[in-house]
Amino acid sequence: MTDGPRHLLSLAALDDAEFGHLFERAAALADGAAPGAPLAGLTLANLFCEPSTRTRASFELAARRIGATVLNLDLTRSSAVKGESLADTVRTLHAMHTELFVIRHADEDALVRLARTLGDARLAIANAGEGRTEHPTQGLIDALTIHRHFGGCAGIQVAIVGDIAHSRVARSAVHALHRLGAALRIAGPASLMPGAGEIPEAARCARFDDALEGAQVVMMLRVQRERIAAGGAPDAGAYFADWGLTEARLARAHPDAVVMHPGPFNRDVEIASDVADGPRQLIWHQVALGIPVRMAVLEWLAAGL
Ligand code: CP
Repeated sequence: MTDGPRHLLSLAALDDAEFGHLFERAAALADGAAPGAPLAGLTLANLFCEPSTRTRASFELAARRIGATVLNLDLTRSSAVKGESLADTVRTLHAMHTELFVIRHADEDALVRLARTLGDARLAIANAGEGRTEHPTQGLIDALTIHRHFGGCAGIQVAIVGDIAHSRVARSAVHALHRLGAALRIAGPASLMPGAGEIPEAARCARFDDALEGAQVVMMLRVQRERIAAGGAPDAGAYFADWGLTEARLARAHPDAVVMHPGPFNRDVEIASDVADGPRQLIWHQVALGIPVRMAVLEWLAAGL
């Protein structure tokens, strides 16, 4: 990272020491380390331009757990609809002594532009999911889930399957897992695969079965209908037939394979209901790790104020 205010805009922008610190601190907190109250006296604003359950709730719970006052603002019902820019909304809340901003935005690079616009203001921004570019805390959650299940990520065979093209989760998970030495492959319908040259850290598989072969982790993704032009999204039934993870398909993976999904998941579209509820899923572990990961991130951001 460059000098100036500390933000978490992407995992790609972290150097190895910063990434390592966040990962290890989140792991320690997940193991029960006392979090203390590093956000005491600080205020955090959750600013979400897109729907969220997990990210918004766990940032709020994490922030409260380590001492912050939390303000939730739905940007679709704020003065943004009257034409106020995101930067001016942040300046407004900052003038009320809000220091930490957790932001979800639909536009690519919206948060990099915001951080640049705000310059040296004494505040910190955490990316809570931006367009299809990155969802850094979800990437940390996914890597930590695998690390805790297998005792490490190095050499673990991870298949990420579904709508890769529109997935910020896939990009952040690939980034985190590549840093930690996992072996990555991606697969999905041709229309939902990223452009040539994108996500070079992962091998591409044209067929679901090829991606599953020997995979120790099968990470399923939702079709991001909200990012696909009207009429371009696949039919749910046809998608399930071709790309839905069923018990029969899962049998092609490693015998000890586990199933992950960042949520929200669509039952019997990308994942069969019995797989989502089955003994191999780690979905609720992923959700639970949202709290220690976000505590670690907020603690780190507060230390830079
Ligand atoms: N995984 C994730 O970002 O979920 P939410 O959209 O519910 O925050």
